[in-house]
Amino acid sequence: PETAEVDGAGRLRVGGLDVCELAERFGTPLFVYDELDLRRRCREARAAFGEGVAYATKAFLCRAMAALAVEEGLWLDVSTGGELHVALAAGVPPERLVLHGNNKSEEELAQALELGVGRIVVDSFDEIDRLGALLGRSGRVGERRVPQPVLVRVTPGVEAHTHEFVRTGQDDSKFGFGLASGAAAEAVARVRALAGLELVGLHAHIGSQVFKVASFAEAVAVLAEFFRPLGLGELCVGGGLGVPYVTGEPAPTMAEWAAAVRGACEAAGIGPEVRVTAEPGRAIVARAGMTLYRVGTVKELPGIRTYVAVDGGMSDNPRPVLYGSGYEAFLPRAALAARPRAVRVVGKHCESGDVVVADARVPEDLAVGDVLATPVTGAYGYAMASNYNKVPRPAVVFVAEGRARVVVRRETLDDLLRLDVGPGDAGVA
Ligand code: LLP
Repeated sequence: PETAEVDGAGRLRVGGLDVCELAERFGTPLFVYDELDLRRRCREARAAFGEGVAYATKAFLCRAMAALAVEEGLWLDVSTGGELHVALAAGVPPERLVLHGNNKSEEELAQALELGVGRIVVDSFDEIDRLGALLGRSGRVGERRVPQPVLVRVTPGVEAHTHEFVRTGQDDSKFGFGLASGAAAEAVARVRALAGLELVGLHAHIGSQVFKVASFAEAVAVLAEFFRPLGLGELCVGGGLGVPYVTGEPAPTMAEWAAAVRGACEAAGIGPEVRVTAEPGRAIVARAGMTLYRVGTVKELPGIRTYVAVDGGMSDNPRPVLYGSGYEAFLPRAALAARPRAVRVVGKHCESGDVVVADARVPEDLAVGDVLATPVTGAYGYAMASNYNKVPRPAVVFVAEGRARVVVRRETLDDLLRLDVGPGDAGVA
């Protein structure tokens, strides 16, 4: 993270605070976010794309995060009624919200229309029908007289070079409308025929953890033919900018991403009057966050390997299990120490797949009781955390300028029973 530094004793500090002391104070596992890093990335996005660039909240959302992104001039992309709820609870003005989702419910759409969200990204014909039914003949919902701005989501048929589960731009996709099939053209016509909606632009998202900005340029080139004759004022290229999880991975900057997209627009005859936007999630929050664990068990299997077990695992970071994602591990008490020892960092869950870092290198003297950190866990970590094995979810703290504030409190054992209706509980229907 931005403010990471190592003190004279070799200990890692973030936001002006000793990382091991944070583990002591707030317990482990713990998500620690460097607030200045978050702010810097938001500003980079804003500078690269300008007004309308949205933070994709699916990567990490709590009220503090929503408020921070909005303070830094971003809009928010929400893809469910739940994300919408949290964003509104954070005080985000509805006109700065972009509503996504391939299966938006009638309730979600009705709420979005009533609020007058900034954009609804239309994803299916069924959704257009639902919008039509909600708007009725008057084209109005309640007292609102202003038409609802919408984007039509198009699948450009571009294959991003990334994991199959997070690839979204190809023709065979549950998202958006295909170009080749003519579905996109029909969607545009049907949206335009509805009173109460105003088609302002197109949207395309090709995938996530994309390292080649050329893939985005390719998507723009494919979209341009369709986009230009429509005379629309907005083109959103989605999110997906990749970030390095392990040292040495080259990753394009937000500015390079925007430049590639703008260049492709220019080359394809999409003029500067068109607002080109994006909605990065991972690139905003991944690097600002790290997870702190406590080492509980070190099991040496002679001739096989050493397992270092920590007090979290797939419940706070399912990405290694889901996508085979690689992370690094290090000891914040000896942040610059040589790491000659090859170990496998695993969690405390009851399955062998519960791996945190499959091939970690750690200092020789790693021992039970150590705080172990995995960097770059700020995106899709807490967001995808679960209570598997009834492990309470970690706390999340933001650190900045020598101060730490809890933005999501640690779940308690009682929280695990909050929704549980037991045999002795009254009032069960
Ligand atoms: N916009 C749309 C329409 C999306 O579907 C996504 C991500 C984003 C923006 C943000 O993408 P980002 O900039 O964060 O790559 N759980 C997976 C990632 C799933 C991404 C889904 N959509 C992971 O942990 O890698």
